Amino acid sequence: QQNERDSLFIVLNFANEYFKETLKKHEEGQSIGLSYFRERGFTEKTIEKFELGYSLDQWDALTQKALKNAYNEDILKKAGLLVRKDDGKKYDRFRGRVIFPIHNVTGKVVAFGARTLKKDAKPKYLNSPETDVYHKSKILYGLFQGKQAIRQQDNCYLVEGYTDVISMHQSDIENVVSSSGTSLTDDQIRLIRRFTDNITVLFDGDTAGLMAALRGVDMILEAGLNVRVVVFPEGEDPDSYSRKLGTSEFKKYLKENSRDLITFKAGLYAEEAARDPIRKAESIKEIVSSITKIPDPIKRAIYIKETSSVLDIDEGVLLSEMNKLLINQK
Ligand code: CTP
Ligand code: MN
Ligand code: MN
Ligand code: MN
Ligand code: MN
Repeated sequence: QQNERDSLFIVLNFANEYFKETLKKHEEGQSIGLSYFRERGFTEKTIEKFELGYSLDQWDALTQKALKNAYNEDILKKAGLLVRKDDGKKYDRFRGRVIFPIHNVTGKVVAFGARTLKKDAKPKYLNSPETDVYHKSKILYGLFQGKQAIRQQDNCYLVEGYTDVISMHQSDIENVVSSSGTSLTDDQIRLIRRFTDNITVLFDGDTAGLMAALRGVDMILEAGLNVRVVVFPEGEDPDSYSRKLGTSEFKKYLKENSRDLITFKAGLYAEEAARDPIRKAESIKEIVSSITKIPDPIKRAIYIKETSSVLDIDEGVLLSEMNKLLINQK
């Protein structure tokens, strides 16, 4: 229903303006929200560009404001802004949090991510629920602000979080999107493909999750995109590390540490196999399985050759392993 979607966009825009205004003009917004962003090193320009905001630590500040402006509870609820408890009590979903509005690719606000300011409060981020205009699996944070740069650079950085996108912009790198903490979906890959065939995945530096994250990346290969990866030092993410290094050192780090995904995996497996020969067979199967996902047969052949030399395995063995998998796929 077009009318209802339009009303959702209108009330979401109203809420966005309200959160921004609260951050800048309200005493609590300034002393708590604005100082939080400043402590994180976000500039005025960044706050404007990403339309950052603040929600007051009150039960229904937004709802009251919206009702005064002729919006009704029903539409607030459908927009995910109002929560109604079983006992009939209603309150604002976002309270006492800094606000990151989430835009669709054309720039309309469709949802919000809201971060707590209290240390260790759970959840750290509270997000809008799915609504008629917000399907999490079809939205990429930062795509609206970054799409021109993605096309120009012919590359899209993929990061985990909101603040990674924002800090990279502040480091003068605008071709970046976030899947907001989850692994990329097919719809999100399709969105990226409208602008580029090249993705560079920036992993948070916690090595425990690295192998799992690498597996999650296989579906990007399957879509025919070229995938590179950059791994950060333990405990760092693109936000923290870009601030630690400063703009030019950070750019240099990305440039010097970006590796082709398959080559990178082959290297990891080679190390592992050297330590533990029993694991070698499994490693070979994993890497061949990734290569098999690549739709282009010429690229597959190149990677088989390279893997053969990195892992010191006969090319014919790898090829027959791949062909087995290809036949089973059909
Ligand atoms: N996330 C979420 N809900 C949570 C935790 C995380 O939606 N409870 C999503 C957010 O989009 C977040 C991303 O996952 O940005 C990455 O999570 P994490 O690395 O924990 O957060 P950071 O983005 O690093 O946030 P910060 O620097 O503010 O701690
Ligand atoms: Mn929709
Ligand atoms: Mn993380
Ligand atoms: Mn992080
Ligand atoms: Mn972080």
